[in-house]
Amino acid sequence: MFLLSQKGLDKKVSSSLSGKKVLLGVSGGIAAFKAVSVASALVKKGCIVKTIITRNAGEFVRPLTFETITNNACLTSTFERKEQFDVKHISLAQWADLFVVVPATANIIAKIAHGLADNMLTSTFLACTCKKVVFPSMNTGMLENVATQTNIRTIVSRGIKVVEPTEGMLACGDVGKGRLPEVDDIVQCIFETLSVRTDLKGKNVLVTAGATEESIDPIRFLTNRSSGKMGYAIAKVAAERGARVTLVSGRTDSLTVPPGVDVLFASSACDMYETVLDVVEKQDICVLAAAVADYTPKVKLDYKMKKTDSNMILELVRTPDILASLRGYVKKDTFLCGFSMETQNLLENSKKKLMSKNVDMIVANNINDVGAGFGVDTNKVNIITRDKVLDIPLMTKEKLAGVILDNILNYIN
Ligand code: C5P
Repeated sequence: MFLLSQKGLDKKVSSSLSGKKVLLGVSGGIAAFKAVSVASALVKKGCIVKTIITRNAGEFVRPLTFETITNNACLTSTFERKEQFDVKHISLAQWADLFVVVPATANIIAKIAHGLADNMLTSTFLACTCKKVVFPSMNTGMLENVATQTNIRTIVSRGIKVVEPTEGMLACGDVGKGRLPEVDDIVQCIFETLSVRTDLKGKNVLVTAGATEESIDPIRFLTNRSSGKMGYAIAKVAAERGARVTLVSGRTDSLTVPPGVDVLFASSACDMYETVLDVVEKQDICVLAAAVADYTPKVKLDYKMKKTDSNMILELVRTPDILASLRGYVKKDTFLCGFSMETQNLLENSKKKLMSKNVDMIVANNINDVGAGFGVDTNKVNIITRDKVLDIPLMTKEKLAGVILDNILNYIN
């Protein structure tokens, strides 16, 4: 549910962020003091920073501190008199490239989740259409409370990035999860969010993900161990980079559909085939990451199959190979990328697939490699095209999604 930032500051990224407008919202937790260092680091990197603090945050840090550091007014009230006349929460909302809330208390998260607008911070947040990042910080019990978790899920589903708090000694003396991340990590996460590219704007991208289910009878089905994480990560990153994404999803490990992605659910290989064919014609890029059954029971019973004392043979028939059939249905220059999961002869088998399925790229992984394959959040792959084989090291599926899309763009631009 959470999204984590990565350590270390990328100089190339920060230099391109000069002049970016960051609205820094501060709510009333003990970690509010760290927001001062965050404001300072952003200003040093060339960002223009304006702050809004809640009345409670003002008990921990003074507006004057932020004003001195940012050289901009720090707002606390919706009815501020000292600023020039305009509707402040609306003009600020339109001004910002990014709205970050550091720290975000359980209270402010609840208000955001429910669309409350009862102070300057929440009113501006509600009016704001730019990217938003929220950094929760609170006592472990408050964080783990189902109410807070539900609120976090709600705001994540609306496209707001929520960064996981770290573990450690909390202000209340408890040890647990709920600490605000270190200032460097917060700043890095802000920079990553600001520097997200829009290089897929205008492109239609189709992604398949998850496992198919082949019905035997109303109770049993044949399936596989795919979690859907890789396909969902590709859909998410493609949408973040500006693509219009259609995700055709089989069964997953209860994954949430990424914000801005159109989803069509398909259960069996045949359902997925038909669903894909319905939408494939307009696609510029197709990434087929679903683990599709190669065989399905010849007969699907509509009553429960009863056991007998003897062994049984279940007759299976071939399913359509969706990927292999696509070339006949797509535009001439549509880029086709498939996946290949093997336990033996990875490169040889995957190169054969590239040719036999007539596609432009195969992302291949050996599920016996540590950290690769089903269920885990990481993957280690080879990207195979007609002219080269790239060895991509172990990384998160989300990061790998970006690498795969970068490589696809190298071929279509
Ligand atoms: O031939 P193999 O199943 O190893 O190929 C895997 C690739 O083909 C994946 O991209 C998968 O989504 C796709 N595929 C498909 N339809 C099938 C079987 C696999 O689209 N029936």
